Amino acid sequence: MDVKLAESRIKELQNLLNQYNYEYHVLDKPSVPDAEYDQLLKELVALEEQFPAFKTTDSPTQRVGGAVLDAFKKVEHRTPMLSLGNAFNETDLKDFDRRVRQSVGGDIAYVCELKIDGLAVSLRYENGLFIQGATRGDGTIGEDITANLKTIKSIPLRLSEAVTIEVRGEAFMPKKSFEALNAMKEENGEEPFANPRNAAAGSLRQLDPKIAASRNLDLFLYSIADVGATGVTSHSQGLDYLEKLGFKTNQERRRFTTIEEVIEFVQGWTEKRPHLPYEIDGMVIKVDSLDQQEELGTTAKSPRWAIAYKFPAEEVVTILKDIELSVGRTGVITPTAILEPVRVAGTTVQRASLHNEDLIREKDIKIGDYVVIKKAGDIIPEVVNVLPERRTGEEKDFHMPTHCPECESELVRLEEEVALRCINPKCPAQIREGLIHFVSRDAMNIDGLGEKVISQLFQEKLIEDVADIFKLTKEQLLGLERMGEKSVTNLLTAIEASKQNSLEKLLFGLGIRHVGAKAAKTLAQQFETMNRLSQATRDELTAINEIGEKMADSIFTYFENEEVHELLEELVEAGVNMEYKGPKPVSVADSDSFFAGKTVVLTGKLEQLSRNEAKDRLEALGAKVAGSVSKKTDLVIAGEEAGSKLTKAQELGIEVWSEEKMLLELEK
Ligand code: IVH
Repeated sequence: MDVKLAESRIKELQNLLNQYNYEYHVLDKPSVPDAEYDQLLKELVALEEQFPAFKTTDSPTQRVGGAVLDAFKKVEHRTPMLSLGNAFNETDLKDFDRRVRQSVGGDIAYVCELKIDGLAVSLRYENGLFIQGATRGDGTIGEDITANLKTIKSIPLRLSEAVTIEVRGEAFMPKKSFEALNAMKEENGEEPFANPRNAAAGSLRQLDPKIAASRNLDLFLYSIADVGATGVTSHSQGLDYLEKLGFKTNQERRRFTTIEEVIEFVQGWTEKRPHLPYEIDGMVIKVDSLDQQEELGTTAKSPRWAIAYKFPAEEVVTILKDIELSVGRTGVITPTAILEPVRVAGTTVQRASLHNEDLIREKDIKIGDYVVIKKAGDIIPEVVNVLPERRTGEEKDFHMPTHCPECESELVRLEEEVALRCINPKCPAQIREGLIHFVSRDAMNIDGLGEKVISQLFQEKLIEDVADIFKLTKEQLLGLERMGEKSVTNLLTAIEASKQNSLEKLLFGLGIRHVGAKAAKTLAQQFETMNRLSQATRDELTAINEIGEKMADSIFTYFENEEVHELLEELVEAGVNMEYKGPKPVSVADSDSFFAGKTVVLTGKLEQLSRNEAKDRLEALGAKVAGSVSKKTDLVIAGEEAGSKLTKAQELGIEVWSEEKMLLELEK
């Protein structure tokens, strides 16, 4: 094709496809069949390949996901990305209204919006072109996720006007996409996402934009970072202007002049919420006038002109069909409610732990009961209560068994314990659970060796103890269901790599009673080798600060067992490392870090580090990381959505840092 002709055809296709894309993803009104879109896109891809000079950054071909990144760049926000104060009930909303009216004169109008449950992003356009998108981070510094955001089809790559503007919104995963993604994950034996918000955040934090591209994310814009020269004087005008520029805004917003109307609207959405195609976790109420917003101003964290009303945890009613028993790694028998599948807070729930018999008695739960279910912390399903008024008389009492459901040995109730236990050390269920624990994340962390694969291997008698994991062969693994050449190779590589783990991972993985991940770390640091630990006396063990009598006893007894030594020998032969590789425990006197000797509490969602990573790094510098805030706390690190711990810290006047600030100090 002639260059001139190619150029004009490329331009034409880019415009046409951008238009179709806008109609489909922003207006929700497709004007051409998918097949036609796909065909035109194919033509454009081919032409741009042949004439790369005409490939522009706003071409629809740029949405498929480009090169894999090494890391995300940091982005400093030009205007900080604040968060919102919370309201949990009518009184809180009325208090907010009172504060607003006391601070500003004149009539007040509020805009009420849905609070989309995703993650906040900032988009920057220069001369109408999308040039950078970032996460909120700590509100001041976020991460550059432009490549991932470009894959979201409702984000315009070019605006209808050539303006320079920064806008803010919420990226999210629609319920349908979330379900499809989790179904696929489960099919592949992978851990599903707990909720659409985690799925959206996980997708946007992928270094390979092709993954984000496959995840069907979406985005609603809710504000202009700096109205500057836009001429906009109210929040609602701002939203209209965003629409005019080609952005997608949420259409469920309303403007009211009294708090009573606001409350009524909010209550209406509490009921309608389950019918939306995306998750919301509350409503946002904003003072409409920008002049009034300015008069009200902001606190360090959040504007005084807006508040987030948080919905109470969603509760639903379903039938408890049965109570199943499972045997844990330590022999504890746990009853689990088998429920008529029901959707709660974004996922379908069909099981809920009932913990122990006492809880079943306390709540008077019978098989066949109608029960109220909610998700604690919006993640773990639990039975709130039963509805005795809906009983028919057909419900059956539940009794804990006297014998292990798996190996049939008699169950015992140990002193001072609520739980019933199977104490047969050869109980297959305990062995299987122990194997699952051994490969889990905080233990040996063997990727690709999940619960399903372990269960299969165990059933096929390919592994009977943890040492057998290191003897697995390619042929054996290829014989398993759904194990292809590639996953077998990956799995064998992961097993091989785990041999190099530092001692504490192995120690935790062995599942010595009372030895959790934290104690395992302390033991590994103190004794440095498995050999030394195995020869430690009770006194040597209890001499360590964090090791009590009970744990010392358990460790001592464990290493007295001849079979344990045989197992360890097998592991050594397989090449499993038996030494501590991490940093030596820092005595406060040795560390010149800011954190040395300080008691630090982590709260809220951290974005850059996992909780455990943050903890490890702080401890390596001599900090003590505590679980709750008290007068003894020196410093609180507050991530996103920090709750009561943050409030308590503020009440006690304890210093509060963002994750970002902690990272800067850690890296000094
Ligand atoms: S306005 C300065 N509007 O909720 C206030 N936020 O802490 C800026 N969110 O992380 C937020 N839907 O990402 C606003 N319609 C909406 C929202 C919304 C969801 C998120 C936001 C922020 C959190 C509030």
